[in-house]
Amino acid sequence: MDKMIKLGTIGTNWITQQFVEAVKLSKSYDLTSVYSRHEDTAKTFAGKNGATEIFTDLNAFFDDGVFDTVYIASPNSLHFEQAKLAILHGKNVIVEKPAFTNQKQMAQIQEMLADHPDVLYFEAARNIHTPNFHAIEAQLADLDTVQGAEFTYSKYSSRYDQVLAGKEPNVFSLKYAGGALQDLGVYTVYDAVALFGMPQEVAYFPQLIRTGVDGKGTAILSYPEYSVTLNFSKVSNSHMTSEIYGLKDLISIDDAGELRSVTYVDEDNNKQVIANTIDENPMLPEAEDFARVINDPTAKQNHEDYENWRQLSMYVNKLMFNLRQDAHLYFVGEEA
Ligand SMILES: NC(=O)c1ccc[n+]([C@@H]2O[C@H](COP(=O)([O-])OP(=O)(O)OC[C@H]3O[C@@H](n4cnc5c(N)ncnc54)[C@H](OP(=O)(O)O)[C@@H]3O)[C@@H](O)[C@H]2O)c1
Repeated sequence: MDKMIKLGTIGTNWITQQFVEAVKLSKSYDLTSVYSRHEDTAKTFAGKNGATEIFTDLNAFFDDGVFDTVYIASPNSLHFEQAKLAILHGKNVIVEKPAFTNQKQMAQIQEMLADHPDVLYFEAARNIHTPNFHAIEAQLADLDTVQGAEFTYSKYSSRYDQVLAGKEPNVFSLKYAGGALQDLGVYTVYDAVALFGMPQEVAYFPQLIRTGVDGKGTAILSYPEYSVTLNFSKVSNSHMTSEIYGLKDLISIDDAGELRSVTYVDEDNNKQVIANTIDENPMLPEAEDFARVINDPTAKQNHEDYENWRQLSMYVNKLMFNLRQDAHLYFVGEEA
């Protein structure tokens, strides 16, 4: 029987609640420690989820917390400093996507990981851990020819209502490294890089909103023999399916972020649903994957998976940065 992973959390929004429920379902983690900027929020979250200690001071959380693994679900621009603190304190890091905003930060994190070989690092990109994604990978390997792909993930954000009302929520703020590419586009970037590797050239055409971030955008990734188009939006909905093209056949995906249903369409237009697993909690597959590696990091498969995810995280970070550079989209504190 694996030992239980002691979990600490940063951030108390619904996504942390969802992750905590996923880890409960996985039966591999014990939530022990909760950090929030506000004592009331920390108490409520800890009480609801059975954590034993709360902190309102981040340094005290890392100095004194009994946890061995931290889940970071703060606004994007805070991930870097928080992950650094975690590594310095010997805590495994599970950081929400997008992990970091530029390659300098990513390189520094990787150097720190090299200096702390017992610390594990995971970017919580839930889509690539799902059984439906693995079905896409297997079907793609069976296509004789690849003629490119189009991935769409667009969901109107209730927080855009706040933008329309004159406010600037973190997810739509340059100060907090927000925007559609960072928030939803990153899933499509993960799809593309995990399935096709790094492109040769990229272009990004953002649709900017009042706060200066991209509310919506289209990215084109150019590979030697085909291109992959990414569409994502937080200011509109879309029901467009995503597709990976063979010569006459194709793989059709209902939604490139949720990946609820995957269909193979053969050259005679016969359609076969090849995967439609809906997990009880969308974060369960990643929670299980991370626990498997944390509990036995040196097992061959676990080590290979870990290195693969770490490499993928670095590639995605680089590609996201390159897309922003192409569009001259800079966060607060970045040089133009
Ligand atoms: N995997 C997924 O499906 C998924 C879904 C949604 C979001 N996410 C990711 O999760 C992360 C958090 O997103 P979110 O939308 O929940 O962000 P958010 O609501 O802006 O903030 C998350 C938490 O961070 C703390 N926080 C908020 N503003 C802060 C500030 N100015 N300074 C310091 N702490 C602050 C708050 O916790 P306290 O008040 O308790 O301190 C809050 O609950 C992002 O990286 C996002 O990309 C992932």
